[in-house]
Amino acid sequence: MADTMATEATAGPQGTKRDFLFLATGAGLAVGTAAVAWPFVASMAPDAATIAAGAPLDVDLSPIQDGQIVNVFWRGKLIFVRKLTEKEVTDMKAVPLSDMIDPASFESRVKKGHDQWLVSYGNCTHLGCVPIGHSGNYEGWSCPCHGSQFDAVGRVRRGPAPTNLPIPPYAFETDTKIKIGEEGGKAAA
Ligand code: FES
Repeated sequence: MADTMATEATAGPQGTKRDFLFLATGAGLAVGTAAVAWPFVASMAPDAATIAAGAPLDVDLSPIQDGQIVNVFWRGKLIFVRKLTEKEVTDMKAVPLSDMIDPASFESRVKKGHDQWLVSYGNCTHLGCVPIGHSGNYEGWSCPCHGSQFDAVGRVRRGPAPTNLPIPPYAFETDTKIKIGEEGGKAAA
């Protein structure tokens, strides 16, 4: 049984504080009934070992607007779910691999047929701080601890972080729903 849970959304590049509040509410409702449903789900059971292993997490993408980032937690780890704007998709596809610290094509960072969606772990690959969205010079994130910067698909573009934000196992169930923790219909180890 998949758990559902969402924590917060950040406004897009043109977002306002009002947008933030609206989205935080919308994401909470849409992604899940999560917080509300959890006590009932828990009482129905997965056993302790299953909970520790981390059941897959369903995320409803429908309330997420272009340019917005939603934070969710899976297996206790922060995960960014970001809907790229068309401009960001175009810009990210155009970055030469030679400009990157940890070269990775755009295609390797998204699922085929779902160019607008980035799903990545949300902790800096230097020492684990949480990068701030929509900041830095690469349309992505900047890390407040030591200045690393990541682009809109989570590729590190300025160190000291040595590697890109890792991609967790996930699969599209429909165009508006992903399941984190399963890759191609199989539960992740
Ligand atoms: S933890 Fe992000 S740059 Fe050091």
